[in-house]
Amino acid sequence: MNEAADQIFATLKQSSQSGAPLYLQLRKSIEDAVNRGLIGPGDALPSERDIAIKADISRVTVRKAVQDLVKGGILVQRHGSGTFVAPRMERVEQSLSRLTSFTEDMARRGMAVRSTWLDRGLYAPSPDEMMVLGLPSNELVARVARLRIANDTPLAIERAALSASVLPDPAGIGSSLYAALETTGLRPVRAVQRISAANLGDDDARLLEVPPGIAGLHIERISYLASGKVIEFTRSIYRGDAYDFVAELRLSGPGEEGRP
Ligand code: GLP
Repeated sequence: MNEAADQIFATLKQSSQSGAPLYLQLRKSIEDAVNRGLIGPGDALPSERDIAIKADISRVTVRKAVQDLVKGGILVQRHGSGTFVAPRMERVEQSLSRLTSFTEDMARRGMAVRSTWLDRGLYAPSPDEMMVLGLPSNELVARVARLRIANDTPLAIERAALSASVLPDPAGIGSSLYAALETTGLRPVRAVQRISAANLGDDDARLLEVPPGIAGLHIERISYLASGKVIEFTRSIYRGDAYDFVAELRLSGPGEEGRP
């Protein structure tokens, strides 16, 4: 790390004529060093004091730069042991044309999947759930909320709602909702998925082990049986640094909608 530290501060000296505030210059130097691989995931940063002495700037300036990088997810601070380069996420590429389950997606990549339960039970439905699932107000909704973890990295928070007549025992689904639905012949065959950007709130960020406020993806999936009946209404928050959704696009054929 000493060699790397020297390089970081060498860049700082080179850029110090740029006129930008010193903390921004230091932040950029550290960021560049991470991007260029001079310091890698898990490497410890020198102490605030050492950086201040080496770069000849105040500790307050160093702290400000480091805090910014922690907020941005580039560095992590571990209580009592110091500041480190954050572990790099291996991004998951996810096709948008296949209706698969989380368990299947991760198993195909050879990743070990597990989930932590956040909620499971039967409840009076919310207005959204009644509308999407077509539930009368006197029927119950089954809710299954899980933190989905692959290779020990939390990737998503998924909150699924199904009619209680479809899933009378939400606690009994085992490790895969779709596998459980398959056993009763109620696995969805079609789904509409809506993806939007979201900044992670404190609670979601804590569960996903990322700094609050960083970019995430809000995904809503409404799944259908072959009969056209809605079977699942799931709202999820995915880590933005972990997922690339990929869709194949084709020029529409003659007579198809959208042809110029
Ligand atoms: C995906 C979907 C969810 C679906 C889940 C089922 O992650 N986004 O809508 O509920 O798969 O996964 P599993 O069968 O592993 O529980």
